[in-house]
Amino acid sequence: MARRKMVAGNWKMNMTPENAVSLIKTLIPLVQNEDVDVAFCVPDLDIIPCLEAVKGTNIGIGSQNMYFEEKGAFTGEIAPDMLTSVGVEYVILGHSERRSFFAENDETVNKKVLKAFEHNITPIICCGETLKQRKQGITLDLIRMQIKIAFYNVSPENAKKAVIAYEPIWAIGTGVGARTDQAQEVCKAIRDCIEEIYGDLVAKEIRILYGGSVNASNAHDLLNQPDIDGGLVGGASLKVDFGKIVNYDKIQTESN
Ligand code: PGA
Repeated sequence: MARRKMVAGNWKMNMTPENAVSLIKTLIPLVQNEDVDVAFCVPDLDIIPCLEAVKGTNIGIGSQNMYFEEKGAFTGEIAPDMLTSVGVEYVILGHSERRSFFAENDETVNKKVLKAFEHNITPIICCGETLKQRKQGITLDLIRMQIKIAFYNVSPENAKKAVIAYEPIWAIGTGVGARTDQAQEVCKAIRDCIEEIYGDLVAKEIRILYGGSVNASNAHDLLNQPDIDGGLVGGASLKVDFGKIVNYDKIQTESN
């Protein structure tokens, strides 16, 4: 039942189409690891040129958001079939930056998750606590709530295909990632929560990533935790270091 590892880059609001293609071309030879699924979640305008650039490789392209309606008067939004029609496989949903700057909440995340599955897009569903919430001792309660709402009405067949990303907000873009034991503790709690909702089989199959200041030095330890199936990588996904993260399983061998 071994789950395949996954390392996804979240480019956020970086890279013009021209720069995006040049970065993808630089990264393609560096992100070869047959045991790891690799994806780049790029700005929408970069999607088509990036899809062209990854043709013939096993790299997937994702969006960083998507609306939960099919089409219509929703200025500035992107519809699911616009993404699938060009070959997008993944969509990040509920990233903390969307929650804090763009009024995303657990209910809208749930609607988007349901819509993504209707269109066969794999959602990368983000959850995570602020530093204050961690200090208040409510991390696991909050994460369980985020997960339960995100998966409300999602069938077990779909749930097992979802990817969850645990991203403590205090670790995003700060250079200070969660300690390995902290990340493992929450990822395990997420898996337990999925088990409560869907049972053992879905819990064993669903992939749970850790995100928040993942880099070439901490990737090996983080990605070797029993409940961490990969990483969602922001800053380091814009650098050649991303290749080292994808090849986290070789890092130790090299330093030994
Ligand atoms: P970071 O971002 O790796 O730059 O901390 C992670 C994310 O926001 O997905």
